[in-house]
Formats: sequence, C-alpha cells, structure tokens
Amino acid sequence: MYPQQKPGMRPTNPNFSSGPCAKRPGWSVDALKDALTGRSHRSGPGKIKLAKIIERTRSILGVPDDYRIGIVPASDTGAVEMALWSLLGARGVDMLAWESFGAGWQLDVSKQLKLEDVRLLNADYGQLPDLSTVDFSRDVVFTWNGTTSGVCVPDGDWIVADRQGLTICDATSAVFAYDLPWDKLDVTTYSWQKVMGGEAAHGMLILSPRAVERLESYNPPWPMPKVFRLTKGGKLVEGVFRGETINTPSMIAVEDALDGLKWAEQIGGGAALITRCKANLAAIEDWVGKSSWAGFLAQDPAQRSRTSVCLMVVDDWFKGLNADKQSAVVKALSKKLDEEGAAYDIGGYRDAPPGLRLWAGATVETINLEKLFPWLDWAYAQIKAEMET
Ligand SMILES: Cc1ncc(COP(=O)(O)O)c(C=O)c1O
Repeated sequence: MYPQQKPGMRPTNPNFSSGPCAKRPGWSVDALKDALTGRSHRSGPGKIKLAKIIERTRSILGVPDDYRIGIVPASDTGAVEMALWSLLGARGVDMLAWESFGAGWQLDVSKQLKLEDVRLLNADYGQLPDLSTVDFSRDVVFTWNGTTSGVCVPDGDWIVADRQGLTICDATSAVFAYDLPWDKLDVTTYSWQKVMGGEAAHGMLILSPRAVERLESYNPPWPMPKVFRLTKGGKLVEGVFRGETINTPSMIAVEDALDGLKWAEQIGGGAALITRCKANLAAIEDWVGKSSWAGFLAQDPAQRSRTSVCLMVVDDWFKGLNADKQSAVVKALSKKLDEEGAAYDIGGYRDAPPGLRLWAGATVETINLEKLFPWLDWAYAQIKAEMET
C-alpha cells in the first residue's frame, strides 16, 4: 500500500508555499529587466507602469468601471487594515472567522479599534460559520478563502444585494482564482504575492461606489496614520486610484506584478487562471480519493479551497497518536520532502490542526502536483516506519 522506493521524478518546481507563492511558469529575473529602477515612481514612465497595473487588473478581474482600484502600502495586511480603520465604526459590524487571518481581523477591531457593537461569528478549522446568520444591516468583514484552513465561502449568494452595511472582503488567496461577484463586494483586498506569484510589499484595495460614499461621509473618531489616509477634506484622494501611491513603491515589485498580469493575458485572462486553479484542485482530489492516509481539512467539498489546499492525515495509526506526536509526524514529513527537494514549505499553519498545506494557485503547474503525490506517499511511509520502530 505504501511505496518503499523513492519516486524517480521530482516536481520541476517544488515551490508549493502559500505565500510568497510560486512564480509563474517560465519566470526568471529577466522578467524584471525593464524595471524602472533608480527612477521616481512619480515620473512619467513610473506613473504609466503603476496605472497599467490598475488597468490590466481591472480587465483581468472584470472589475466594474465605477469601482476604484488602488495600490496601497503593506501588502494585503495594509489594505485590510486601511479599510477597517477608515470605514468601520459608522454602524455595527459582523466579523466572520474560521481560521487565523479572520481571527486576526476580529482581534484588531475588538482590541485595537475597540468597537463596541461587534458580533464575532466563528467556526473551527475545517468549517464555515453559519452564513445565514450574517446581518447585512451591519458592516460585514470576512475572508473569501481562509488560507490556513483551506475553507472558502462557496459563492456570494449568501450576501444580500440590498444590504445597508458594507462588505469588506479579504480576498488575498481568492482573487484571480474565483469569479468574484463584484456587486456583492464593497471592499476587496489582496496582495500580489499569492495567486499571481508576485512580490509582497504592496496591497491592492478595490472599492465600490458605496465604500467611497462611506469614506466621504464618515470620519472615524480615531487618529489616521498617513499610510491609511484615503481622504482629504472629506473627499476621496482620487490619485491613489490612478497609481499615485501614498508612499514609495518598489519599482522591481511593480515590474514583477506587470509581468504576472501580462502572463495572465497571454494564457487567456481571468478565466484561464481560474481553470488552472480548478485543475490543480481536481488533481489533488483525485490523489486524495485514492489515498489511504490523506484527507481534506475542509469538511464540505463546496467549501474546499482551490488555492490553499489543507490536508489532514486520516489513517488510524496517526489518529491514535497524541497531539505532540501528530505534529512531529507532519513536521518530519514536510522536512523530508524539503530535504529531498520534492516540496518546500508545505507544513500546515501553526495554529491549524496538524497537517499539510499545498498551494494550488494559478502559477502552480498541475504536472508538478502530480509529480509530488508519489513523494508524499513515499515520505509518509518512511516517517511512519521510522516512528513505529
Ligand atoms: C487570508 C489572508 N489574509 C491576509 C494575509 C496577509 O497577507 P500579507 O502578508 O500579504 O499582508 C494572508 C497571507 O497569507 C492571508 O492568507
């Protein structure tokens, strides 16, 4: 049942980390040769590059013309924090969490912003909170895809069209992998380092007209750091949404983001990116279906992530171990695969139940996942044999 022999072929690209994620197929530093290094981002050519990112992003993601797209500081975290600090407090808020990132946003809103009217809607790793209990007369903050549990919302149907509150969605490991319903999303955030395999450091902030209306009509009672400031004199700073960034971006990261977007266009745009993610999940599902030891952490297949795929070990021997031993097994497993050059950075998140996490976003080639599966089976057999003796 378990192979004793080392598989012959390694994945050509063993990068399965959930962030920074694998570079696009064929990427090399050559892709950065036209980077505007040593030049101002406010120069003519600098502004053009930043504006091109916004333009290409809009077209690939199908973002409506009346939505603003901005490049902001501090990766996805910066974009989410900017939204929370700038928009919340005008009404009560429902904060959804089913893994560590959602829990982090809950903590910020309760303990840092100290909002009083906060409802925390939680679920354990592997599950979603009951989405039918969300109150859309309030603001709603949620993560589209919980990167550390591999559980995503199944679609946007649970979000009501005639909501009074705003929806604020951390979509960092979902955007470019799912067809996002823009009419249901008032604020959407992400970073370049996920599905597009770009560099971290800069975040993307997408605002609906309703979000802009809130920004222009509501002034939060707390101080607003410069890196979060989106309005001046009660008006939106429109420049941010034309590429006039609040502070200095890395022009190397900018070039890399452009390279990723050009690649997406070449392979067929947003639909092609989504197809690649679906194919990757299908390959993993196929292998898990045949495996005697691996299973999905996500309980419901409709909520199974197609980017951050979280796996549990389900064989009886493993289930009989105590929590420390289980953690030791999965650590040893990912270490072995790392040492073999078969897979890097696939240990599950530290707060999640012991398991593995395979990034399956658009930059990952299905063939590399298929080459990885025999290695996973081999490594598990080795670790099990070592620990049993
Ligand atoms: C769901 C989610 N939110 C936020 C973050 C933080 O993103 P960043 O490190 O790009 O700020 C991550 C990173 O993995 C994530 O997966």
